[in-house]
Amino acid sequence: MKTAKLKCVIIVTYFLIASISAVKSSTEELTNVKRSDFPHEFLFGAATSAYQVSVFLFSKCLTLSLSSSLHFQVEGAFHEDGKSLSNWDIFCHIDGNVIDGSNAEIADDHYHRFMEDIEIMESLGLTAYRFSISWSRVLPRGKLGVINQVAIDFYSKIIDNLVLRGIRPFVTLFHFEFPHELEERFGGWLSPLMQEEYVYFAEVCFRSFSDRVKHWLTFNEINLYAEFAYERAVFPPLRCSPPFGDCASGNSDVEPLVVAHNMLLAHGQAAKLYREKFKSKMDGVLGITVSAFMYVPLTDDENDKEAANRALAFNNGWTLDPLVFGEYPPEMRKIHGSELPRFSAEQSLLLSKSIDFIGINHYGTLYAKDCIHSGCICNDSSCTAGSDRAIRGYVYTAGERDGIPIGERTGMDRFYVVPRGMEDIVDYIKERYNNVPMFVTENGFSYPVEKDDSFQLHDVGRIQFHRSYLAHLAQAIRKGGDVRGYFVWSLMDNFEWSNGYGIKFGLYQIEHPTLKRIPKLSATWYTDFLNKSTIFDAPISCNDASRLQSQ
Ligand code: NOJ
Repeated sequence: MKTAKLKCVIIVTYFLIASISAVKSSTEELTNVKRSDFPHEFLFGAATSAYQVSVFLFSKCLTLSLSSSLHFQVEGAFHEDGKSLSNWDIFCHIDGNVIDGSNAEIADDHYHRFMEDIEIMESLGLTAYRFSISWSRVLPRGKLGVINQVAIDFYSKIIDNLVLRGIRPFVTLFHFEFPHELEERFGGWLSPLMQEEYVYFAEVCFRSFSDRVKHWLTFNEINLYAEFAYERAVFPPLRCSPPFGDCASGNSDVEPLVVAHNMLLAHGQAAKLYREKFKSKMDGVLGITVSAFMYVPLTDDENDKEAANRALAFNNGWTLDPLVFGEYPPEMRKIHGSELPRFSAEQSLLLSKSIDFIGINHYGTLYAKDCIHSGCICNDSSCTAGSDRAIRGYVYTAGERDGIPIGERTGMDRFYVVPRGMEDIVDYIKERYNNVPMFVTENGFSYPVEKDDSFQLHDVGRIQFHRSYLAHLAQAIRKGGDVRGYFVWSLMDNFEWSNGYGIKFGLYQIEHPTLKRIPKLSATWYTDFLNKSTIFDAPISCNDASRLQSQ
């Protein structure tokens, strides 16, 4: 009887402590998290994208011969099995475009090693995997040419093997990569013709895979793509104008708006097609991802608070308002006026409610300062030029205040570790979009380049990052946020776009030249978290680290 009483006291005390910690002061940083903090059906996965894992980046000695502007002869895996050259294949082979472009033969070679990679996912205990389909592999010449059956078979095999192991495939159709020929022929996403090309590509994928794929993402980060490719010129086709950069051509104030508009309309048509012809195959759902930074006011000034709201609207609302409400955000309409493309009544109807879920790619939080009522000068490396322009909403954003970073620095310029931002961005999206179901489609950590070598495998920082971001995500869910899954970026180290291979986000390291996949400490932690984490889980300690390592 006495023992039972004692047990009961322990249980009650535990739940008391647990409930107190669940309603902890909202400013406190949470670090403790366990699998059971999330709903039973919550999906835990990892994400990659086609170009980033499959590419074989050769040294400058690669023979890239352009016999005419449209016909390329290249030796290499990125041209294998009927794939054509993509915008990124061309971009990477121009000196200076990629930081470490001169490194020879670096790759993940997922194209040939996907079975091993799927086995790794199974051993980790993942219940979902997000990957993208290479447009230039499936339709090497866009609508003009034939469908590449080898590519369809390749993706079919991936999907079948995922499904067989109980891993849900989340398929992204556009992850920054498309056949270069479409850029040459009509100027890529600056042209409305790209919409038809995209819808055709989407239809081919829906027809081939929607009997096994339930979760579709039409586009990855329209907001970031428009900014990086047409405003700041760090992605192909490298277009911009001052003060954003000094490019051969482009208009940073206008082109990002045009490109995003074309992409949103392409999404709308693909979504309609999916719902009419393919959704019923397995009651599938379709969404989109946004690059979703959180913004907090630089000072307590009302103007800065407004600026933080504007930054959120210009960053997330640019994509999400049209797809939920059928219109660009009022904050953008007010500032851009007639420069902002318009949706006709019919287009507005097509777009509104055209997503079943929102994919949140969240990495960090930035300060926001108003530039309408006061001047803004960007004078440290944590801000970017152009904050005094309409396209940026007249908001200056930076990762530092008085020289002090908002959170721990990482390998990426503007990605600071601010775990609380995860809770805030989910709260924000929940409120603004009436709690449309959400997935965290990307979240990840890279060490600053100088630190990376010593921490490459013993990546305690990455473990702490995921734990604390997950703890805040759990808190957002407890507050009512309808979040249904979390994807680590990334399954393995890969090609970080213009930053090359120096920036590493993976749970697995790729050894060169063997291309062996080597689990980092974080991979072991993720498996433990998914399979063994208990209610008494403590924050990561040195003992934990050596235990994980010895497994
Ligand atoms: C978001 C992008 O979707 C992905 O391609 C990129 O590698 C990560 N962010 C990290 O920058």
